[in-house]
Amino acid sequence: MSRILVTGGTGYIGSHTVVELIQAGYQVTIVDNLSNSNIDVLQGIEQITGVKPDFENVDCLDYKNFNAVFDRFPDIEGVIHFAASKAVGESVEKPLMYYRNNLGSLVNLLDIMNQHKVKNIVFSSSCTVYGQPDAEHLPVDETAPRKTALSPYGNTKQINEDIICDQAHAQKDLNAVILRYFNPIGAHPSALIGELPNGVPNNLLPFVTQTAAGIREKLRVFGNDYNTPDGSCIRDYIYVVDLAKAHVKAIDRMLNENGRDQVEVFNLGTGRGLSVLEIIRGFEQATGVKLNYEIVGRREGDIEQVWAKADKANNVLGWKADTPLDAILLSAWQWQQRLS
Ligand code: UFG
Repeated sequence: MSRILVTGGTGYIGSHTVVELIQAGYQVTIVDNLSNSNIDVLQGIEQITGVKPDFENVDCLDYKNFNAVFDRFPDIEGVIHFAASKAVGESVEKPLMYYRNNLGSLVNLLDIMNQHKVKNIVFSSSCTVYGQPDAEHLPVDETAPRKTALSPYGNTKQINEDIICDQAHAQKDLNAVILRYFNPIGAHPSALIGELPNGVPNNLLPFVTQTAAGIREKLRVFGNDYNTPDGSCIRDYIYVVDLAKAHVKAIDRMLNENGRDQVEVFNLGTGRGLSVLEIIRGFEQATGVKLNYEIVGRREGDIEQVWAKADKANNVLGWKADTPLDAILLSAWQWQQRLS
């Protein structure tokens, strides 16, 4: 049984991925400093899978202790690197924290992997690297140009991609898969793990479910005067469990398939763009709960519309995000009900 190290494995996407890895037969070691997650997530993972993953409460910036994890688990064959700070607004307020955390963690990781002869890394990137694609690049595929980042957070994703490419150039036995996520939403169907937003949510879905639960009075829809069919912004919302499964496919491919490129990039999205108002209607239909919302002005820095061309992941990874929207939205609501 191959062992995979998952940094940030108690976080939102990380925990769902750990579940899928275990269910696919992998052994998992989680490294997480719990800076934006809760230790109880481990129980949820165990309840779903029947297996408690090995857990190391270590900060990836702490070279000595991070390195010691690799000493303790000499059978690690691949790493999935989720651990990062991820709030766009916070990154504008605290750029140094973002550059230190997000760049330093990856540099430490690649260095330690090289020393321990661990040759496979899957990296969590984001569709934020595309910025607002030009009309001829929508839906956006992996060959679309990256745009200047709008936030330090977005910039760290671009620089991290570059660090991986530069290291792969220098270290020919390093294999990397860069996964560019679109907008992950929803929770595990068991409602035992899900997203745990810190304070007032920035992202749409946690705000929707908290409003439905009465924790927030009103959802604000940021703008209805965009150049889109209903005037609200369009995103590619992807079910977090589908997203998690793509990581298993990426690891399977790295461990078992020959003839890969040394660094491969995949968009992970559904290929379907949905507006904010469509999400609201979809949520009301899926759950039967009416949402209190109002249209307000645009949010600074928002991209008007972006959705994925996911053909490469479909064809090369043999993966497709195919969970119906109502099931996804219902899972988010069931998780919220469990939390509140
Ligand atoms: N929105 C609202 N009201 C809210 C929250 C969001 O109308 O209360 C709208 C936004 O204006 C946007 C859409 O819902 O049109 C999605 O917003 P999110 O904040 O959920 O997601 P973003 O697409 O802005 O950002 C997400 C991630 C970032 C990542 C980015 C990549 O949060 O980490 O996708 O494009 F960088």
